[in-house]
Amino acid sequence: MSLSELAYDRRRLRQWLAGDARADGVARRDMLRLLAAAGLTAAAPVALGSPAFAADGTAAADGTAAAGGRAAGGASAVAVAPGIVKPLPEEWFTVRGTNAETKFAALAGTGLHTPADRFFVRNHTATPVLDARAWTLTVRGDGLRGARPVTFTLDDLKRLPVTTRTAFVECAGNGRSLFTTQQGQSVTGTAWTLGAVGTAEWRGVRLAEVLRRAGLSHRAVDVMPTGLDAEYVTADGTNLGHVRRPLPLSKALDDVLLAYEMNGEPLPPDHGHPVRVLVPSWIGIASVKWVGDIEVSTRPLYSPWNTDFYRLFGDGQPAGGSAPLTRQTLKSAFELPWDATVAAGAEHRLTGRSWSGAGAVARVDVSTDGGAHWHRARLHDAPRRASWVRWSTGWRPSAPGPYTLLARATDTTGRTQPDRTAPNTQGYLFDAVVRHPVRAV
Ligand code: MTE
Repeated sequence: MSLSELAYDRRRLRQWLAGDARADGVARRDMLRLLAAAGLTAAAPVALGSPAFAADGTAAADGTAAAGGRAAGGASAVAVAPGIVKPLPEEWFTVRGTNAETKFAALAGTGLHTPADRFFVRNHTATPVLDARAWTLTVRGDGLRGARPVTFTLDDLKRLPVTTRTAFVECAGNGRSLFTTQQGQSVTGTAWTLGAVGTAEWRGVRLAEVLRRAGLSHRAVDVMPTGLDAEYVTADGTNLGHVRRPLPLSKALDDVLLAYEMNGEPLPPDHGHPVRVLVPSWIGIASVKWVGDIEVSTRPLYSPWNTDFYRLFGDGQPAGGSAPLTRQTLKSAFELPWDATVAAGAEHRLTGRSWSGAGAVARVDVSTDGGAHWHRARLHDAPRRASWVRWSTGWRPSAPGPYTLLARATDTTGRTQPDRTAPNTQGYLFDAVVRHPVRAV
């Protein structure tokens, strides 16, 4: 039985998780801490007003202390991230604080859609394990025609017209560490390499449909979904409240989904069970997980996630900071570990993926000699907006030694990845061509 099939049932999920993770070498003590961090031992689902969670994931006001560090026991098989429910095998994930980055090499052969068990997790706090039968979504605000909030259950949403679409979710800071390793610039935030991205088939109801049923007023301009995870407390102790970020009505009515399935299964706990917002092509923070409340407003809305974060600050950026970030940028990655070793003189098939928030990826060029020569890679997927394309190319390293691989995508808007990304203090939207070191032996 899959995780998602069990996701509705807290007791059975706990049994499944404990059994599966123990088989991978997680000690019972660590497992219990992990379950506590995920709220699995609590009697009631986490709700708005639930305790705050420290930015470093070490403490929570109600004693739901987070598990941290490496799992004890087995042969370094599974890592533990504070508050992440699913197992994080080391061949698939790098744990970064409360987050888990997918290793790009682990995507080789996985198909267009990233399996949920390999999909990266970006949690400001901890995954709340919510009971889908008790879950409700409240839509409220002066942007509705009626004065009263409107409430939807999961069954209500499932009775509405169904929409399915393939889309990536990518953190705005994906590739952040490359500002430092490639461009020598210091930036703040989680030091992702390129694996804070995944593509899935999402199924749910259009947000436009739900807003219409809730009685959307023609004077509404912004909507703000809020997550049911714990309030976020920054490293300096400031409580920023629940994760929430406004969307302009134009986007909300366009292609945004309230998704309840991922790759044909109910959303897993770490990815927003029972319902998340899915904002195709936009930075990941817009896709609020565990959504419980949507404010509809006749005035622009603000939260720290569109004022202090997810804007471009620093030299060369607009004075006072850029407008709130919306679309993702253009990127490519090889499905190879960093510093991979390959056999000299042998024929290799290099594989990778490219994606863009602006248009579909139409072309990918690859260099195996540090950028001196380029040739076109073969695309394995039809260009599709908000998705990625898989590509491959042959390579025979003639002699032993170090090599630098580069992949450069061009999208249907005509944009090509640049050699450098203009820096910004928080390290968002890295889009430069990445220099990927390998060694032929
Ligand atoms: N929604 C809530 N409620 N809490 C969060 O911490 N993280 C956001 C977004 N939605 C977040 C959230 C960020 S920054 C990203 S990149 C995506 O979720 C990650 O989605 P995933 O964990 O399903 O990969």
